[in-house]
Amino acid sequence: MPKFDDQFITELKARSDIVDTISQYVSLKRAGSRLNGLCPFHSEKTGSFTVFPDTSSYYCFGCGAGGDVITFIMNTEHLSYVDAVALLAQRCHLPLPEDEKGDEQTRKRARQIEMNKLAARRFFANLRDEKQPQGLQYFLGRGLSMSTITRFGLGYAAESFTDLRDHLRAAGFKDEEAFEAGLLIRSQKNGKYYDKFRNRVMFPVIDVRGNVVAFSGRVLDDSKPKYMNSPETLLYKKSQTVFGLNFAKANTDGTIILVEGNLDVVSLHQAGFDGAVAPLGTAFTKEQARMLAKYAAKVVVAFDMDKAGIKATDKAIDYLEELGVSVRILQMQGAKDPDEFIKQYGKERFAMLISGSKNPTQYALEKLSKEHDLGEVAGRTEYVRQAVRLLAQISSDIERELFCGTLAKQTDISKETIRMEVERARKRYVRQTKEQIFQKEASGFKTQDRVNPERAQNLRAAKAEEGLIALLAHSPDKVAWLTEQLPPQEFVTKFNRRVYEFFIQKIGEGVSPENVLSVHFEGAEVAKIMQILNTVTVGEDVIKQMGDYIRTLKEEQEKKIGGQSPEQIKNMLKSKRS
Ligand code: CTP
Ligand code: MN
Repeated sequence: MPKFDDQFITELKARSDIVDTISQYVSLKRAGSRLNGLCPFHSEKTGSFTVFPDTSSYYCFGCGAGGDVITFIMNTEHLSYVDAVALLAQRCHLPLPEDEKGDEQTRKRARQIEMNKLAARRFFANLRDEKQPQGLQYFLGRGLSMSTITRFGLGYAAESFTDLRDHLRAAGFKDEEAFEAGLLIRSQKNGKYYDKFRNRVMFPVIDVRGNVVAFSGRVLDDSKPKYMNSPETLLYKKSQTVFGLNFAKANTDGTIILVEGNLDVVSLHQAGFDGAVAPLGTAFTKEQARMLAKYAAKVVVAFDMDKAGIKATDKAIDYLEELGVSVRILQMQGAKDPDEFIKQYGKERFAMLISGSKNPTQYALEKLSKEHDLGEVAGRTEYVRQAVRLLAQISSDIERELFCGTLAKQTDISKETIRMEVERARKRYVRQTKEQIFQKEASGFKTQDRVNPERAQNLRAAKAEEGLIALLAHSPDKVAWLTEQLPPQEFVTKFNRRVYEFFIQKIGEGVSPENVLSVHFEGAEVAKIMQILNTVTVGEDVIKQMGDYIRTLKEEQEKKIGGQSPEQIKNMLKSKRS
């Protein structure tokens, strides 16, 4: 890990307020001196994720993720340590120390952004070039206006193996670089580089910061593959990119329309639906859901109604509801996708589809009722059984009540009977979910200890060690007294010993140890230390509390030595001295 010095990191963290920073990703509620929210690192319905402004740290009591503002940015933005520091420094206008400026990855990213920008301009210029009119003809033929084309920066990749390559060369970029940026391919035969996108209309993929990070190119006819997308690069992670979000995020009504295709997005925007976005040829992912949740309170899912689309719809409902986003499902008849629908029936009818879009329970009930023959007793019984299970999962009493009415009407069973069944199933459901959460958390804590593998075998000692570390962090003025009472050699587990030594050393240097953890420890270690600092309760009388832990630790030491052979003891003492 390339390192910044403690001073720089201390300054950076002083300027990057942890509550401000995390609030941009997680909605936090204050609870006394802490703040709580839904953990961005695992799926949960209750907020186990906690931010501690006092120690500028966060810790999730559900999944054990923890750290400081830097590890938070590393994990949410998927950046290396150096890049995360660079991003935070940029946000708070703190200049990076000289020797880190030329960091390889940061430089590469910057050059890839530059190449993509040049490529987008080239494709756009090609589109307006009279000598190769096919791209523009294609887009106009699909009903796009010139102003839509310009707004989305749509373009045309020439029918040539060298058009973009030579253009990038002339601008000073090496073929290898453009290859790494996903713009060129390399010939197996002669090792030379050629344009990846040829004779395709081009959609630039722009991230929420406004950088072109990838391209999606469509053929002009019916040949295959219909769409070709950039490979994953330093800039482009498929599962974390949403096409059109750069436009949709500014959409003021807080509603996003999630569609399948690039052209659907573009046509919807042209028709005035500013919230349209698409997941770009991938199955909809949790990360994409999280990105949408940052910008939208409501998402209308308008995927195609084929098998793949239905599967993707179910996923989208799951992921988005988990994040507290209200989801509606839009269903179309008479057209395959929104682009076709608008062309056939106009935007007013599409607006009607949006307002008539269904909530997830309605959608699921309808799907269910189509799977059963309600004219037959057997079909009706099975439908009711499954529908009851579905309704049991609705947490709103009012909504549950309403659906009981719907179901009663549909099946000709009395509302009372249905209500009774649903309430009974509801109780069972709540109990089961609670148990599941409990089990998940319990097993999470057990499997967590790669960082301190000796902990499980020396639990009592390790807990005392952790108590001491937490107390020391809380009362650094006791460092001299504590070190005298208990030098680091007396620690039983190696990891805790290292942490203890580190705290002593940094306090001695006048640096606040919590602030510079990420400089000296790895991500998982930082998380573990945060757990130590945040799960031990600091009492009134710190000296007495420290004394208790010291006694426990010494007892454990003796027990350990007592049970060993003289050779083992000798070896242990030797290893401690070195
Ligand atoms: N897609 C892809 N690769 C393919 C096919 C599709 O990445 N080989 C992605 C594209 O983002 C595409 C979306 O999946 O926009 C939906 O595909 P499809 O429904 O086949 O195409 P449409 O969007 O309807 O394309 P068009 O209207 O241009 O024919
Ligand atoms: Mn289409």
